[in-house]
Amino acid sequence: MKLLHISDIHYRKKYPRAEEGYQGMLCRMQDPLIPLGQCLRKALSEEEVDAVVITGDLTEDGSPEDYRELQDYIRRFTGQIPLFVTPGNHDSKEALREGWLGEAASGAPCNYGVELGDCLLLSLDSSSQGVPDGKLAEESLSWLRETLELHRDRPVILMTHHHLIPGQAEVKGLPEWQELKEVLSGSSVSLILCGHTHHQHEGRFAGILCETAAGLSFCGEGQPDGTVEFSEVYGYNLYSLQEGRLLGRRTEIFSTGRLVGRIHKDRIYE
Ligand SMILES: [Fe+2]
Repeated sequence: MKLLHISDIHYRKKYPRAEEGYQGMLCRMQDPLIPLGQCLRKALSEEEVDAVVITGDLTEDGSPEDYRELQDYIRRFTGQIPLFVTPGNHDSKEALREGWLGEAASGAPCNYGVELGDCLLLSLDSSSQGVPDGKLAEESLSWLRETLELHRDRPVILMTHHHLIPGQAEVKGLPEWQELKEVLSGSSVSLILCGHTHHQHEGRFAGILCETAAGLSFCGEGQPDGTVEFSEVYGYNLYSLQEGRLLGRRTEIFSTGRLVGRIHKDRIYE
């Protein structure tokens, strides 16, 4: 099975006008549909992909209409290939449900499981809109515990927005990582997919292979003077899997070479 993993598109038809800070950076950034289209075109022309997974921050606090437009755009490339999403800290669960899933608006955690080839794909909602580090609700952790208990004998791929490995990135990981580690230890989860950092990474969490995909919008690099330099670096991961086990990963990373902002690390979320 071939799985395309993309993340952190931060799409919004119109970003609020700003010169400074994070919002100013977004205004200078190229339309994320450009790198998104480039990556989808390349990945899907080179491999027969069975499903596409998007690990959060689909939009930049977008409206239902932003989600609809984004999905329509992605569908131009993917056709009927199944798309699976989990929300990030810049996603409104209400808008995502309404605009992306075509469901009634609801702020309930977006936890669900679907059949994916020879395994089960689970979305664990680690997000709370406007809370950068994320929040794993007790009900989400209980849901995961019970679901994994029910599926002890089959391979599970888990997708969640926030990165889990302490020290993996300059930005903080999920605060409840220890509780999650306990639930995942000894489970049948064979692969974890996440986003949030906008930096590709491979590591292990609770002994499980954990893949973070690059973003499809901007990428921040901490500088010695305490600022973060944002540039247009983007990409994707493409996995070959068998019974949930990773046989191969192909990572593509691109850069326009453009710097779009420099913000002090303590002022990014202002
Ligand atoms: Fe993001």
